[in-house]
Amino acid sequence: MDREGRSCDGTEMAARRALVTGATGFIGSHLVPALLADGYQVRACGRRTRPATIPDEVDYRRVDLVDGGDLAAVVDGITHVFHLAGASSSRSSQEEMRRDNVEASEHLLDAVVAAGSVARVLIMSTTAVYGEEEELPSPVPEDVRPHPSRGYGKAKWEAEQAAWRAGDAGLPVVVVRPVSVHGPGAVKLVASAALDVALEHAMGLDRLVVHRQPVEQRLVHVDDLVGACLHLVAHPEAAGRAFNVASGVYPTSHEVAGILARCYGMEVVLDDDPDAGPSYDERAATRASLVAAGMDDSILLSQERLRFLRKTNRNNRISLEALASTGFRLGHADPGPAISADVEWYRRHRWLPDG
Ligand SMILES: NC(=O)c1ccc[n+]([C@@H]2O[C@H](COP(=O)([O-])OP(=O)(O)OC[C@H]3O[C@@H](n4cnc5c(N)ncnc54)[C@H](OP(=O)(O)O)[C@@H]3O)[C@@H](O)[C@H]2O)c1
Repeated sequence: MDREGRSCDGTEMAARRALVTGATGFIGSHLVPALLADGYQVRACGRRTRPATIPDEVDYRRVDLVDGGDLAAVVDGITHVFHLAGASSSRSSQEEMRRDNVEASEHLLDAVVAAGSVARVLIMSTTAVYGEEEELPSPVPEDVRPHPSRGYGKAKWEAEQAAWRAGDAGLPVVVVRPVSVHGPGAVKLVASAALDVALEHAMGLDRLVVHRQPVEQRLVHVDDLVGACLHLVAHPEAAGRAFNVASGVYPTSHEVAGILARCYGMEVVLDDDPDAGPSYDERAATRASLVAAGMDDSILLSQERLRFLRKTNRNNRISLEALASTGFRLGHADPGPAISADVEWYRRHRWLPDG
């Protein structure tokens, strides 16, 4: 039997026992049910008390990976680790990003190495490690030397280094680098842009003002990311490699704004002023009255209106050759239906007003 728990003819011999860190987060909430459906036994952890959304058959452990005590018990008997826990700039300070990305990864990896039972470790990194200041080859391949330019990308790159060191010491590590992820349950990025559109509709506006200068966007649907994780963790040649994950389609800010505007029967109007449209205070006041009337407050309100659509990146296009070479095929190439379906979900769950 090999470390993957298979006999030499490839038959599954032992149960696959997955540990998902960051299971209480957005991507974890999609990964956990997918692992169960794929036949894994699942242990999941997060820092909060067990949320009702964690399926009953999951062994949930409440633990802080930095100072949570006995990580040996958390990794005991685990064959596959999916390390998703981390912190991004939307909600965390510089210190928290370092703590929850770098220190948390180092502690977890130490425990995984010590356990000796783990056949694969999948580390959820990000394309933010490539940075935006240094011009890299386009599309950016995984083996380029990253130049992270901001706190989040720097912390995730440092966390990756901990994983590569463990890999050099013999741990079969797979690193996944997704672009911005969207889908049901996301609370930032596209979700925040959708909130802005919904707020303006609630204010009675029927025109969505967008800056005339188009900005190229990059996205991936959470189902494609989860599918890629399940595929890569089991792929015989994935260990020791990093994989970019994106839809491979690059809509402009005008196109994404158009998709969101149509969900609320609005029309996009281009403007020379990048700061045109309702102010933060106006948007915050409208949101507060909608929340008072029963809207869920999970989606983050960005200080800057339609912030996600404004983010330029000279290294926007990333290579998907490594992922394609493993035989993985993406399912959500067309952003129109995928983003409209997100908005439907938000409306159904009252994370956005119904219209
Ligand atoms: N969302 C994206 O667009 C995107 C894009 C690229 C990469 N990523 C990466 O994908 C991963 C998951 O992202 P997400 O959007 O699902 O994040 P998320 O919703 O913010 O969830 C973060 C998760 O990490 C847990 N966590 C944070 N610090 C921890 C610590 N010290 N100990 C234990 N658990 C800790 C949180 O637990 P509690 O909430 O229970 O405290 C939560 O479960 C992250 O590593 C992120 O960098 C995300």
